[in-house]
Amino acid sequence: MTEWQKTTWRTKPRVQMPDYTDTGALAGIEAKLSQFPPLVFAGEARRLKAELGAASRGEAFLLQGGDCAEAFDQFSADAIRDTFKVMLQMAMVLTFAAKVPVVKVGRMAGQFAKPRSAPTETVDGVELPSYRGDIINELAFSQASRTPDPSKMLQAYTQAAATLNLLRAFSKGGYADMHKVHSWTLGFAEGEKAERYRDMANRISDALDFMKAAGLDSDNTEALQTVDFYTSHESLLLEYEEALTRLDSTSGNWLAGSGHMIWIGDRTRQPDGAHVEFARGVLNPIGLKCGPSMTPEDLKALMARLNPENEAGRLSLIARFGAGNVNEHLPRLIRTVKEEGAKVVWVCDPMHGNTIKSESGYKTRPFEAVLREVREFFAVHKAEGTIPGGVHFEMTGQDVTECTGGVRAVSDEDLSARYHTACDPRLNASQSLELAFLVAEELSNLRAERPAKVI
Ligand code: PEP
Ligand code: CO
Repeated sequence: MTEWQKTTWRTKPRVQMPDYTDTGALAGIEAKLSQFPPLVFAGEARRLKAELGAASRGEAFLLQGGDCAEAFDQFSADAIRDTFKVMLQMAMVLTFAAKVPVVKVGRMAGQFAKPRSAPTETVDGVELPSYRGDIINELAFSQASRTPDPSKMLQAYTQAAATLNLLRAFSKGGYADMHKVHSWTLGFAEGEKAERYRDMANRISDALDFMKAAGLDSDNTEALQTVDFYTSHESLLLEYEEALTRLDSTSGNWLAGSGHMIWIGDRTRQPDGAHVEFARGVLNPIGLKCGPSMTPEDLKALMARLNPENEAGRLSLIARFGAGNVNEHLPRLIRTVKEEGAKVVWVCDPMHGNTIKSESGYKTRPFEAVLREVREFFAVHKAEGTIPGGVHFEMTGQDVTECTGGVRAVSDEDLSARYHTACDPRLNASQSLELAFLVAEELSNLRAERPAKVI
């Protein structure tokens, strides 16, 4: 293989990327972005990699979630806070019920570019380029809106920087203090899951009171007052990624400075393509989406390129087959990983294989299918004797009606009430918590069965 540089992806076939017509403007934006500070620091990416290494061994569990696509017009402190809060609640459920440290990674602060199933969209006989995320073009259906505009990269960078700044403040500034576990109730004020959450919060408070009374001054324990929260996004728009790539002077390695973890989508994972080429050379943890068309040969080639040193935590395989299809597709990939002796984190994305068009015309996901895919994922790992290392999902802290079902029973007719996503349908706060309880249950079963080996 030829030597990697942050530009070598340009020599490879690329898919799902815009053709900017004004190449002069593009070059100007790239030059500007290259001068900007990176959003993350190499030491953080390395720490995340070590934590994911623990997840690959069953000593931790990855919780990765957030918007399908961040949007410029939905950028607000409240939206960031509410998504962060739901992630904390979910992590708390997993930590408490399954007794496992949770690695928290947001699909946030950079998740702006979207692969699409078709390059163009036709409405009333008019054909225009598809919407590809706010970093590339606009959702509105007009020639001007759909034309890729490189200056949007600057706005995306600014929004990512401000989002990350607030996330860092929430993580370390007292908001995530476990003593406030009661104040995180949100979006599920009623119902059975809310009861379970409150009950758990009471028990956590009791434990903290006990520690304090016993002289284990929990008020001053950093681990209880702060969290580590990481960012991630699909590394799709490679001009943006390259411009934010920096040399880590302490190790001499390259860092994708756009986020802590980046992933390669199911549509852009060609072993000889541009996206794999870019990802192979950066030190960050890498996610690889694995859909139904992934063959053992593909996976072998991808593992050889993306993790040639077989470093634990470097590569997360994010399975997204759809409920009912996991048994057909996951075992062959698990066996390939076993044959190669590869160290990977097995992650379940129960969203992207379960998208349907509802009768009312909305793109939706039945929550029942989401839960079923998670159960199937755990069952296959149990049968194969391998370790489920995490979940990856699309959610928001806002009370949206985008996925049908859940304890608060969003129906087909309800979808139009609060359908705000610019891209794929997300779980709302209540559905996210329900998912967390299911995952916690699966993890505790696993723990009960294999106490010596797992966790
Ligand atoms: C996504 O995660 O938003 C996505 C497009 O996923 P996939 O590549 O798995 O389809
Ligand atoms: Co999506």
